[in-house]
Amino acid sequence: MSGITLALSKGRIFDETLPLLKAAGIVALDNPEISRKLVIATNRADVRIIIVRASDVPTYVQYGAADLGITGKDVLDEHGGAGLYQPLDLNIARCRMVVAVPVGFDYASAVRQGARLRVATKYQQTASEHFAAKGVHVDLVKLYGSMELAPLTGLADAIVDLVSTGNTLKANNLQAVEEIAPISARLIVNQAALKLKREVIRPLIDALEKAVSHG
Ligand code: ATP
Ligand code: PRP
Repeated sequence: MSGITLALSKGRIFDETLPLLKAAGIVALDNPEISRKLVIATNRADVRIIIVRASDVPTYVQYGAADLGITGKDVLDEHGGAGLYQPLDLNIARCRMVVAVPVGFDYASAVRQGARLRVATKYQQTASEHFAAKGVHVDLVKLYGSMELAPLTGLADAIVDLVSTGNTLKANNLQAVEEIAPISARLIVNQAALKLKREVIRPLIDALEKAVSHG
């Protein structure tokens, strides 16, 4: 097909992408929070949106099942980015990847003493690179969500997770002790699609870039 497919996850990414798409002249014809449709038409016959899990967006774009996608830098770092062109930081869904521990746990001194820490996270790649670079020995426990619960139940000493307002950490008596990286959503493009459908994709990238800089 000569049209293009954009992969989005519902919730935060979809909601924060809509105004950028609108500025680029693209309007979704269904709301994925209400409709059960996973393929959403737009006002443009040559542009459709597919709704996938946040962590699946890079996979759809890597294999060309979607031509473009919007995904958090956190997800992209875990995926590795193979085969993906990353032309734009969209500056939406902004948060920080941090190490957090229970209030009162002396993380700095545990690290100084060379303690082996158990760290729960959904972000194993990011966490292992971070601790390896610091020379800190950790045992990673893979979780799929609600990381904040791990230190409260004895599953882990620390977590690696995303923080925005800090409300979730605070509500669970945790505190951030290290910032790993600032996070925001990125536009990703399948490299082969960029070549084959350049006349549709390039103007869309340019329009989104304009929308970001004017936002
Ligand atoms: P999955 O459905 O695969 O488990 P998820 O639940 O992490 O993914 P969302 O909660 O919709 O998916 O988050 C999508 C993206 O939004 C994340 O990858 C991250 O980049 C960003 N994000 C996550 N939490 C926050 C937050 N509290 N504030 C701002 N941005 C966030
Ligand atoms: C993310 C993240 C934290 C929370 C941080 O979860 O995993 O739990 O946001 O935000 P805060 O600092 O503003 O409290 P999310 O809300 O996406 O829920 P999820 O577990 O469904 O991903």
